[in-house]
Amino acid sequence: MKRASLADRLAYAVAWIRGRTDVQPVAGVVLGSGLGGFAARLARPVEIPYQEIPEFPVSRVPGHAARLVVGELPGAGGPVPIVTMQGRVHGYEGWSAEEVSFGVRVMARLGVRSLWLTNAAGGVNPELAPGDLVRITDHLNLTGQNPLTGRNDDGLGTRFPDMTGAYDPALGAALDEEAARLGEPLKHGVYAAVSGPSYETPAEIRMLRTLGADLVGMSTVHEVIAARHMRLPVAALSLVANRAAGLAGGPLSHADVQRIAAERGARIGELLAAAVPRAR
Ligand code: HPA
Repeated sequence: MKRASLADRLAYAVAWIRGRTDVQPVAGVVLGSGLGGFAARLARPVEIPYQEIPEFPVSRVPGHAARLVVGELPGAGGPVPIVTMQGRVHGYEGWSAEEVSFGVRVMARLGVRSLWLTNAAGGVNPELAPGDLVRITDHLNLTGQNPLTGRNDDGLGTRFPDMTGAYDPALGAALDEEAARLGEPLKHGVYAAVSGPSYETPAEIRMLRTLGADLVGMSTVHEVIAARHMRLPVAALSLVANRAAGLAGGPLSHADVQRIAAERGARIGELLAAAVPRAR
């Protein structure tokens, strides 16, 4: 049997989601590790576990929320219909870059006009401390994978999409302005994506710093590439969960990442709640 095309799989997933809610989302938000609390801000939420959506990849990591939440974000100009992904799948679980970015493509096909990505990251720039919020202004895709590998579907996007300005200046400005209004310092930085799941060695962190990275993490860039393939404007925020290997002295642990996310997740939620409605 011939494998269904990506476009067919997207159409199948989107038609199924449309059968569950008639909310037409104008923005998409991907909530990274420990940052899923933002979805609780939505009025009239429709929660759809990924496992129920045809073709949708489901994380094999236990204990992670894994669902789409469609609902209305309160905004000054009235409620804004949005779709959020609570939890994502990662390449280190064994998913291809195409699968990792499937959810973002679903959101694009649902009609969102802006995409907001969040993640927890290690601080490679020694000026970054755990708890800092950083707006990603550019990336280094060092994963060795690209979601556009293989035959290109011209109906989804061009073979060679431009990555200049991949992180939309207008969405970025909205984040900067709302962060200033909230009194939340928001730094800017370059995110280096690695495949993981082992953390980096101190030598690798020195290399990343030399290459121009401020942050290091194991997600986000494949989603950005797929979104830009579909000409969707993107903004992205990193929460610095730890100083990268060799910078803090001690060993790195996932528990620290989870703790910082729990402490600072609400603040990211506040910032998104203020900035996302401005994009419609
Ligand atoms: N390295 C890679 N990914 C990460 C880190 C890190 O130090 N912290 C959180 N995600």
